[in-house]
Amino acid sequence: MRTVVEQLESRRASAHAGGGEKRVAAQHARGKLTARERIDLLLDRGSFEEFGMFVEHRSTDFGMADTKFPGDGVVTGWGTINGRTVFVFSKDFTVFGGSLSETHAAKINKVQDMALRMRAPIIGLFDAGGARIQEGVAALGGYGEVFRRNVVASGVIPQISVIMGPCAGGDVYSPAMTDFIFMVRDTSYMFVTGPDVVKTVTNETVTAEQLGGASIHTTRSSVSDGAWDNDVEALLQVRRFLDFLPANNRDGVPEVATFDDPEREDASLETLVPENPNKPYDVHELIAKTVDEGDFFEIQAKFAANVVIGFARVEGRTVGIVANQPLVLAGVLDSDASRKAARFVRFCDAFEIPIVTFVDVPGFLPGTAQEYGGLIKHGAKLLFAYAQATVPLVTIITRKAFGGAYDVMASKHIGGDVNYAWPTAQIAVMGAKGAVEIIFRADLGDADKIAARTAEYEERFLSPFVAAERGYIDEVISPRSTRPRIARALAMLRHKKAEIPAKKHDNIPL
Ligand code: HXC
Repeated sequence: MRTVVEQLESRRASAHAGGGEKRVAAQHARGKLTARERIDLLLDRGSFEEFGMFVEHRSTDFGMADTKFPGDGVVTGWGTINGRTVFVFSKDFTVFGGSLSETHAAKINKVQDMALRMRAPIIGLFDAGGARIQEGVAALGGYGEVFRRNVVASGVIPQISVIMGPCAGGDVYSPAMTDFIFMVRDTSYMFVTGPDVVKTVTNETVTAEQLGGASIHTTRSSVSDGAWDNDVEALLQVRRFLDFLPANNRDGVPEVATFDDPEREDASLETLVPENPNKPYDVHELIAKTVDEGDFFEIQAKFAANVVIGFARVEGRTVGIVANQPLVLAGVLDSDASRKAARFVRFCDAFEIPIVTFVDVPGFLPGTAQEYGGLIKHGAKLLFAYAQATVPLVTIITRKAFGGAYDVMASKHIGGDVNYAWPTAQIAVMGAKGAVEIIFRADLGDADKIAARTAEYEERFLSPFVAAERGYIDEVISPRSTRPRIARALAMLRHKKAEIPAKKHDNIPL
């Protein structure tokens, strides 16, 4: 018995050693933690239950029969984050560069299957060189098995990917099919083909960072939903993030204790919107003053910043926030902003997270760049996403709600449940100047007439009251009361049931 126990201890020690001291030291020298250190930080202390510690690959080509590491380059299992069950896999870059073999894939598949059966979130920590080159098609098949499970689980359990080192090939496509991708600045990058292949095929010279670092994926490609400075910060933020998410699509949002009174008013909101309609304000201020304890987890903060999205809580329950940002491009909706918000709305809807929408939008962005880039299709994504959503939708128009963008931003017409407007709201087909120039074109030479027509248009349409008279706005509310009004609306909507006709699936414009 003793020898078996000793054997167990020695085999465990060997698994814990990963690819060996030298490679672990190299990992640390790059400012990265090891796969196990990362799991220790991510999960509640001592909660990790490991599966498959002794799994080894079975390949024999290229001298592989003599090169085996217990665990085969990925640490898998489950544990808890603030007491809630999550499944996890963490790629071990010190073993074959974290590359995926047939058995490595089978380990990931096992936790994917269990996460789905248990209806619990799954988090993948990536630091890997793609398919295990020595295994060929067996590794490609392994990726296929991972991908298929990603898709089956999509919309049932939250799937989160954290990119913590180089990620190439299959190690970017699996994250791409999960709900959220986070990165670590300067030490992680993602690309389908690396700088060397790029040089060969297109003759471009780029560094890994320029091709696929966090600086690119959080600002230009929008592949990544956010980034932090180092492994420790990233893992602690993922813990915070998970607290906002439901375990699955049926359990409903988590409820946490809050000291923030839902009836709390904020007088400073009365002066948030400047007198001059062309002057911006920061919608983050409105969000912070409205949600519980000002706690807002922003998603894609650096991409298409003309729309702000993220998670917060009201009365301790998670809500998704979508807000036009007047500070960036006057809050206009363009292709990027529409895509960004549409995906977020669909995530919230899939996981029964109510959505609060703050509207201050001058319309869709005109121009050839936008039209050639498919603004019609991208704008339609957001329209489609909101119109399809069956979760509670509470909308507050703070200022402009012009044109098609009025309809799109969770208006009553496409399914808004409770639609409020501040007295500063202006709901119209377009701004007064543009409107008058079109409908009174004949008067354009006469400045006085135009001024009078503009004033008339402003008086008639640039207020919330025409929409309120028609019932498109449920009430005009004082800005200071925004939080209590939202809290009461969400409480009333808590058991909302909205049915959509049975279908295989919809055909959202892609
Ligand atoms: C086997 C690999 C490996 C791989 C790295 N290693 N990638 N072993 N298969 N795919 C091993 C190395 O041999 C090395 O082993 C160790 O991991 C560390 O690698 P280095 O190259 O020394 O590290 P670094 O300089 O940091 O470069 C990391 C890297 C690079 C950028 C990831 O290794 C790389 O480019 N690897 C190949 C990436 C790739 O093309 N993968 C296939 C993608 S195709 P030792 O023993 O020296 O420690 C794919 C198909 C699926 O994934 C597509 C589905 C859609």
